[in-house]
Amino acid sequence: MTEDKAKATVTTDFEPNIVAFLCNWCSYAGADLAGTSRIQYPANVKVIRVMCSGRVNPLFVMNALQQGADGVLVSGCHPGDCHYMHGNYYARRRFTLMRDFLEYLGVEPERFRASWVSASEGSKWKEVIEEVVEGVKSVGPMDQFKRRQLNW
Ligand code: FES
Repeated sequence: MTEDKAKATVTTDFEPNIVAFLCNWCSYAGADLAGTSRIQYPANVKVIRVMCSGRVNPLFVMNALQQGADGVLVSGCHPGDCHYMHGNYYARRRFTLMRDFLEYLGVEPERFRASWVSASEGSKWKEVIEEVVEGVKSVGPMDQFKRRQLNW
């Protein structure tokens, strides 16, 4: 753990940047429901709407982490509910490999999360966001890629 990271973790003033890729039909609608229901959840999340979780290329996750995100969330319809039939099954397989790849790169597993949130699950959205934010706070700011870039 770097000195900056330790300071941020100890003082708990670290507010992580989380990038969330949400499928249009379920998770985006679930997040919207949380908002319209006035459910309070951490404001650390920057949402990027995609048509399906299967649209999320693992490079999107890498790019987000390289460009300043401290954590990434991908969320879509529950398995069996994808509006494009199998998109979330492809996403699930892809992100199983993605987790291993991130671990290989030295990125803490808390920085990447995949979840299934339906359009009617505003309260689940809140729980997922709280868990993601707490997980990323526990590992501190993302600086692994910055150091690697300087060494190349
Ligand atoms: Fe939501 Fe495919 S349409 S995961």
